[in-house]
Amino acid sequence: MTATQAVDLSLRIGSLELQNPVGTASGTYGKGLEFQPFYEVARLGYVVVKTITTEARAGNPPPRLCEIPGGLMNSIGLPNPGVDAYIETVLPKLRTLGAPLVINIAGHDIADFAILARRFAAEEGIDALELNMSCPNVSGGLDYSTDPKVAKEVLVRARAETDLPLIAKLSPNVTDIRPIAEAAVAGGADAISAINTIVGMPVDWRKRRPILGRGFGGISGPCIKPVALRMVRMLYETVDVPIIGIGGIETADDAMEFFVAGASAIQVGTANYYRPTAAIELLEGLPERIASLGATSLQEVIGTLEMP
Ligand code: SIN
Repeated sequence: MTATQAVDLSLRIGSLELQNPVGTASGTYGKGLEFQPFYEVARLGYVVVKTITTEARAGNPPPRLCEIPGGLMNSIGLPNPGVDAYIETVLPKLRTLGAPLVINIAGHDIADFAILARRFAAEEGIDALELNMSCPNVSGGLDYSTDPKVAKEVLVRARAETDLPLIAKLSPNVTDIRPIAEAAVAGGADAISAINTIVGMPVDWRKRRPILGRGFGGISGPCIKPVALRMVRMLYETVDVPIIGIGGIETADDAMEFFVAGASAIQVGTANYYRPTAAIELLEGLPERIASLGATSLQEVIGTLEMP
């Protein structure tokens, strides 16, 4: 066995054991099934699917997407069929993916998070829940991760309904992400995922209108990577649960930046749109990079960044 083959990529998130740290970010990976023609999705560490709400949502008025230098802006608005239809029609297909399945949920209010946690906890084949506490594109969507008291309450209410690992997905649109993360962990979060998109506004000056149908939207892609890395580092130094890094990750080198900064796992998001094989190529590139640091496991490199 070569040094590269011997590298251990495994990790734990609460009670969930993952064979590797590479996942896909909610909203960028469809139902996962769309990627089956490109590679064996079961090889990924985990898959996170698009946000589900209690009721069906049509989403925001178009345009919902626009490119910007170094990234993408979206104002999608959490379109989904609602939990009942989702469990009946979509979940059976997701169970065939083979990779650990993380269902992403969002509430219209705090009680909704509890309802959704209860509904999905009763279903087979779900490995964890990611709580979308940070969607900037729906009314009140940011409220759950901008106030520590509210963040804690969301987790407490969801925790009361399930033993599934809970991942709190936080917003970068705050002065300081640390108290929000501490509150989420105090409420029962098993991990923190960061970051969701950064709020912005693309403008068409000739039309004197914002480009996106709802005006504001969320920025993702390579241009937000340094913002995400900083927040991951701050979170690593603050809370004792695994941090899942999200933000402009496309390559194995991007992922390594997040691991040394303090992430235990990562999610590939916007890159899925322009390079559908990004996540699997990233995974394939990790062992040699970890071995190049003289390490034999992912765990040995997490958080080893030397801050000035
Ligand atoms: C959306 O559906 O608007 C994007 C989801 C999110 O930013 O959380």
